[in-house]
Amino acid sequence: MSELLFDSEWLTLRRRADHQARDTLLNEEANYWLTTRQRSHIVDLGAGNGNNAHYLIPWLGPQQHWRLIDHDAGLLKDARRGLEELIQTHHPDAGHCIDTGEMDLNALDLPSLHQQWPIDLVTASALLDLASESWIEGLVGQCQRIQAAVLLVLNVNGHWSITGIKDPLDETIRQAFNTHQTKSKGLGQGAALGPMAAFNAVDQFKAAGFEVQTRTSVWQLLAGSAYTKALGFQLINGWHQAACEMLPDQTHEFDVWFVRRQTQLNTGQVGIEVGHTDIYAEPLAS
Ligand SMILES: C[S@@+](CC[C@H](N)C(=O)[O-])C[C@H]1O[C@@H](n2cnc3c(N)ncnc32)[C@H](O)[C@@H]1O
Repeated sequence: MSELLFDSEWLTLRRRADHQARDTLLNEEANYWLTTRQRSHIVDLGAGNGNNAHYLIPWLGPQQHWRLIDHDAGLLKDARRGLEELIQTHHPDAGHCIDTGEMDLNALDLPSLHQQWPIDLVTASALLDLASESWIEGLVGQCQRIQAAVLLVLNVNGHWSITGIKDPLDETIRQAFNTHQTKSKGLGQGAALGPMAAFNAVDQFKAAGFEVQTRTSVWQLLAGSAYTKALGFQLINGWHQAACEMLPDQTHEFDVWFVRRQTQLNTGQVGIEVGHTDIYAEPLAS
């Protein structure tokens, strides 16, 4: 098991921003693809506590069967708890359709799984930017072999801003954070691609014969709301810590920035936007 673990509370906190940001056209594409198949077998990689399935279940047709994969058994347990109920609400005749698999995604072998359980759609949310180029290459190759469609969403693309009041340090901190994002996350050999992951994946899927569509999905946290304050606190905190780690000589300046930005956030003077790139890739008919 690699060491990168995520907190269930953090994943739940970001759920609302994630769901509001997602581009619906890509859902329609995935849904249409599934209607052309005999079944809807969907694999969710790095599923966490089920955010992606929570979002997609109401969008997709009644015959959905999900396999959620993650190395964190606790998150998968939380996911199962919420999703069985959700699927019964939206598709009461669906029967049992949520399975989970605890495994390290470095050992992912979609072609083997496909032999026992034919896969129609491979999906992941907020995962790709953690991956190295070699892991993405492996994923693309496996999806090509099984000729599944792919929906990879909420991939951080490096564009975030604190809106309402400009601050001269924001750009330095943004760049430091984006560099920090490329530290290895244990998903594949070597550096994570961070903000470049989505663009790299697009090129690789195209080269492997997929028709690729992209959309931006932006977290839009409006100034003043309690939700913006809660999620914004975590974001600014993370950006501050990453910047101090990357540029330790500027720690004092960054500490002052942190206090200034938190005060502006808490007094409703600033909002936050965080950019993501979503990808839908479909194998071209051979
Ligand atoms: C940012 S979270 C996203 C979770 C979920 N997809 C969501 O949108 O809320 C990344 C997820 O990938 C999982 N993960 C990271 N590296 C992994 C690995 N090597 N093997 C399996 N799961 C991994 C983490 O446990 C975590 O649940």
